[in-house]
Amino acid sequence: MITSAGKSGAFPDRAVFGFDVNASATYLAVSLHGGTAMTQRTILIYPDRRLRTKAREVAEIGNATRGLADDMLETMYAAPGIGLAGPQIGVMRRILVMDCSGKEEEPAPRVLINPELVWQSETTDKREEGCLSMPNQFADVVRPDSVRVGFVNLEGVAEEETFNGIWARCVQHEIDHLDGRLFIDRISLVKRQLLRRRLAKEQRVGRD
Ligand code: NI
Repeated sequence: MITSAGKSGAFPDRAVFGFDVNASATYLAVSLHGGTAMTQRTILIYPDRRLRTKAREVAEIGNATRGLADDMLETMYAAPGIGLAGPQIGVMRRILVMDCSGKEEEPAPRVLINPELVWQSETTDKREEGCLSMPNQFADVVRPDSVRVGFVNLEGVAEEETFNGIWARCVQHEIDHLDGRLFIDRISLVKRQLLRRRLAKEQRVGRD
């Protein structure tokens, strides 16, 4: 998941990456598929081993998958976040949801099944990322600024789509989750150790 846990201020990206997600109320009122009850799932927190496990393809797209997609969107919006991948709720399947629409825009919930990067730009972009599975930890990550992704939609139809800007960053972050990779794998060792220590410390404090 890409998220940001709130503190705005010096980093304008943070607002974009998290709290300004606008859509939860609208979305929660109207399920994508009309009427099915949605359930908020528990988000796994690092270092849960499932976050390091490669997810398997979704074999069949039926009501179970559509229900799962609804649950994932509800969980993502409630967090709040702009992306969520199956393994983050312990579902070891290649499915991700995202909505990177801005504050003033209409909600744009997306569901990508069995997504694959088919092209990435040589030009890159460095932006701060966070992850709902690593609460309150943020770091700058360099990624291609444009990618083309092949995937299957909820109707079972294969599609290809080019994503740019924050959508490109989000879809890459979520595809990483499907391969057991986290954004901290894409930063320096020193910074990674720092974030891990901070998270462990927060978790100890949380238990006291
Ligand atoms: Ni994440």
